[in-house]
Amino acid sequence: MIVPVILSGGAGSRLWPVSREGHPKPFIKLPDGKSLLQKTYQRIAQLGISGDILSVTNRDYYFQSKDEFISADLGIHHRPHFILEPSGRNTAPAIAVAALSLRALHGDNTVMVVMPADHLINDVDCFTKAVKHAVEVAKEGYLVTFGVRPLTPETGYGYIECGDEIDTAGAAKVERFIEKPDGDRATKFVESGKHLWNAGIFCFSVSTFLSELERHAPEILSLAAACVEASPASPSAGVLLQELESSSFMAMQDISIDYAVLERSDRVAVIPVSFDWNDIGSWGALRQLVEPDAQNNRVLGEAVLIDSNNNYIYSEQRLVATVGVNNLIVVDTPDALLIAHPDHVQSVKKVVQQLKSTD
Ligand code: GDD
Ligand code: MG
Repeated sequence: MIVPVILSGGAGSRLWPVSREGHPKPFIKLPDGKSLLQKTYQRIAQLGISGDILSVTNRDYYFQSKDEFISADLGIHHRPHFILEPSGRNTAPAIAVAALSLRALHGDNTVMVVMPADHLINDVDCFTKAVKHAVEVAKEGYLVTFGVRPLTPETGYGYIECGDEIDTAGAAKVERFIEKPDGDRATKFVESGKHLWNAGIFCFSVSTFLSELERHAPEILSLAAACVEASPASPSAGVLLQELESSSFMAMQDISIDYAVLERSDRVAVIPVSFDWNDIGSWGALRQLVEPDAQNNRVLGEAVLIDSNNNYIYSEQRLVATVGVNNLIVVDTPDALLIAHPDHVQSVKKVVQQLKSTD
């Protein structure tokens, strides 16, 4: 059995002020009016896998997530399964509880296809082919990642150093996995030609993942097991619902799967992929989704731009006017305004950190 698992519990602080704790990134609507989460559900429906779709998210996002599932309109072949976290502990705990729940429901051989809810992929045929390939490699006992050819020395991604091929279709062993290197290392990796970006999509069997978790993060495994045992899944009005018991869940270390398992494991494989992959990780990525005008300004909302070039304007309600300014990112919401330089969009998260520390 193959089960798609969607992670959508992160707040996405680099997209402040639109992405907030109460309205995180997966619910942001793109220029076509659909949210990232709705698009993720629809991408999964096209994989040709029927059955449950598991979403792991914060309990505060349950009703909003269920609405997105309903508006994705997947038909009768998919039942939503929601695992609700009391608060985010990052992706390693989220995937650990997902794997243990799936083991209880469907057994050790279940293959999980873990996807973030903050990506855009338009070439669904190519994506589907890559997932099918990954499922085959996962059945051989690998933690499978998807590698994207790097374009710039991005410091917000994991980097995969490819090793020997493991099949004739291009899957390779991973020599080394390096999560979020600094700028100098990222530049070396891009120049080496041997590294790929980690797309953040994973495929593995429940048994492979749990045995690697036991080797590299045993405390997370035992707390996750206690948590899942105390919070069994129960069907409720067409949904399979599992609200996690708080004390064991919150006792888990706040760490991503990339740091907790992938950097440490020697059973990681990579499928190099060529589908268009867009991580909507920052305002720089959202800017690319809007068509530029003759002055290379990209505008979402109402704006008047005089003698201004290369700007991105996102305004939810108010009219924005600029005069004689270039290369700005301007994001206006009813209670907060962001003005940023495109080269510094990764640092928008520092605004959120500072606001939290002065709360
Ligand atoms: N349920 C749940 N709980 N989901 C979470 C949590 C959590 O505590 N934290 C994050 N997520 C979800 C996010 O909503 C997102 O959909 C996904 O997990 C990945 O988390 P991010 O926080 O967006 O990770 P990242 O972008 O910094 O890094 C990952 O993705 C990159 C590609 O986009 C890593 O896997 C990198 O190696 C990778 O390059
Ligand atoms: Mg991300």
